[in-house]
Amino acid sequence: MLTDYSRIVVAYDHSDLSKKALNMAMNLAKQDQQIELLVVMVMQPDRPMVYSYGYAFDAYHERQKEEVKAVCKEVEQELKSLPNKSRTFAIEGSPGHMIVEFVKQNDADLVVMGSRGLSGLKELFLGSVSHYVVQKAHCPVIIVK
Ligand SMILES: Nc1ncnc2c1ncn2[C@@H]1O[C@H](COP(=O)(O)OP(=O)(O)O)[C@@H](O)[C@H]1O
Ligand SMILES: [Mg+2]
Repeated sequence: MLTDYSRIVVAYDHSDLSKKALNMAMNLAKQDQQIELLVVMVMQPDRPMVYSYGYAFDAYHERQKEEVKAVCKEVEQELKSLPNKSRTFAIEGSPGHMIVEFVKQNDADLVVMGSRGLSGLKELFLGSVSHYVVQKAHCPVIIVK
């Protein structure tokens, strides 16, 4: 039983490690149907996030919103394989800050995220978002690598 962790937030940027984080959170949730999963994607209006759809950065915010909506649908499809309550959220702002706020506001008790994301800079073990969330979150954070 994982009764200590009843609401898990997955920080998702569509990178391979965030997919791995989603998988891990889903596996944790399988242990107890009461565990809720909240998957959050933070859009930065001035930055690309979803590269894996194949096009380079498109300055249009609307386009980014469409991409994120499509990714949310994909994730929701995956989440449907579980009986647990789950939801995806697309919010805007600075990712680290928004994730920490989201975790607080939703009274979550665990965050699962990747060590690295989409930046492609591999010289540091932790990316700036994971670094920020580990430091500032009020609850435990699992860093998937
Ligand atoms: N915009 C975002 N929205 C939600 N989660 C994110 C976002 N950016 C990063 N993350 C989470 O943080 C992890 C680490 O990414 P990050 O710190 O941005 O590293 P990198 O510098 O390699 O991109 C990702 O695997 C993902 O779980
Ligand atoms: Mg990143």
